[in-house]
Amino acid sequence: MKLCEADSRELCEQLEELNKSYNDYKAMKLELNISRGLPNEQQLDLNDGLFHVLDETNCTAADGTDCRQYGVKYGLPECIHLFSELIEVPDEQIVLGGESSLNLMYDQFMRIYAFGTCKEEPWAVQQAKLGAQGEKLKWICLVPGYDCHFNITEALDFEMISVPLLGDGPDMDMIETLVREDETIKGIWCVPQYSNPTGTVYSDDVVRRLASLQTAAKDFMIFWDNAYVVHHFYLEGYEKNIVLNILEEAKKYGKEDHILYFSSTAKITFPGSGVCAVASGANTVEEIKRCYNLQLFSKDKLNQLRHVLYLKNKENIVEHMKAVAALLVPRFELVDGILKDHVLYEDVCTWNVPEGGYFITAYTMKGCAEKALALAEAAGVKVATAASTYPYHRDPADSVVRLAPTYPPMEELDTAMHLFCVCINIAAIEKELEAR
Ligand SMILES: Cc1ncc(COP(=O)(O)O)c(C=O)c1O
Repeated sequence: MKLCEADSRELCEQLEELNKSYNDYKAMKLELNISRGLPNEQQLDLNDGLFHVLDETNCTAADGTDCRQYGVKYGLPECIHLFSELIEVPDEQIVLGGESSLNLMYDQFMRIYAFGTCKEEPWAVQQAKLGAQGEKLKWICLVPGYDCHFNITEALDFEMISVPLLGDGPDMDMIETLVREDETIKGIWCVPQYSNPTGTVYSDDVVRRLASLQTAAKDFMIFWDNAYVVHHFYLEGYEKNIVLNILEEAKKYGKEDHILYFSSTAKITFPGSGVCAVASGANTVEEIKRCYNLQLFSKDKLNQLRHVLYLKNKENIVEHMKAVAALLVPRFELVDGILKDHVLYEDVCTWNVPEGGYFITAYTMKGCAEKALALAEAAGVKVATAASTYPYHRDPADSVVRLAPTYPPMEELDTAMHLFCVCINIAAIEKELEAR
């Protein structure tokens, strides 16, 4: 039943009950947090082996490199090969980063900003020239999307153009029209598999259209952040990656150099202490290496080596991710179940049920997200700020809420979600009653 079909008196009674329940939660002085996608403690425990695989007796790489020493700045060959298996890209197209792919994305962005790419002027120079005419470089941001991506483009004063993320990936009709005409649009953020926060998996058609995009800008770049490449909940025996390989597709159109394909072990082993990689076409890989030559003598090879010794190969990673899924699936099912049971009217909230990744996206009734989250926070449950999944923190519908069920213990998640339901019900019923 829809909220608008409910009788006003009944709604008033429900609101009274909900407020009572809300005050009970408030009296509990909760301090819960479902705002960020962190691995839970049991997930981290699964990786304790990482502490024991490496010591002074085996810190020599396969080619004889002493990993305690400077050198091999683009990455240990065996660790590059591990990523090659993971993302299905040839070893020679991969360069390893440090311990965070977000950091690597920022670095790659700044490299092009400072030095340019594809023989075009640096974005910084282009930005300054446009600035003199009161204009800006632009960037495509899929919505809802990942706030950390948007923060980078916002900080560098790119005008962010919101494009809807549909059921099978970005709205490609809109993107094709935009980039064909406007040479100031320089790129797009994509999370092609189990998108943060909607869980969307891009279809083959979408990947092909992105790979072959006709852009007015000669230095248009696709930042392809495949952070959740093996983070499935239900798949068994998935030898082949489920999203089409964008580098292989782009190669058919001579556009490999326009793809920056990122991946990371952050959500496989220890976030903040993982290894990450970037892959691209030969020219872009050359540009990345040239920049590394300025930046560093060596990344953390000991960490690269211990990841190889611990993770071994893709088959082993897939087995490991099954153990991760066994810990995560009950949490996602719990959230789904509580929403099913406690959202009072069908239009108060809808939500996605992802098949992997780290998030559930809830869509509250229009104009209710901010109020509901403020209520939750006042009662001690922190949910990601409303609108954090939109550029400039502006969700025009004030509706999208990113829920991160992975971290809290089940009992805390249970309490947080019950309170969340109370808050979205209150916000929606109050809005409906005000409108009558
Ligand atoms: C889409 C996406 N990319 C990147 C990251 C961060 O990864 P890393 O720890 O490798 O920087 C996250 C973490 O939440 C993410 O959701």
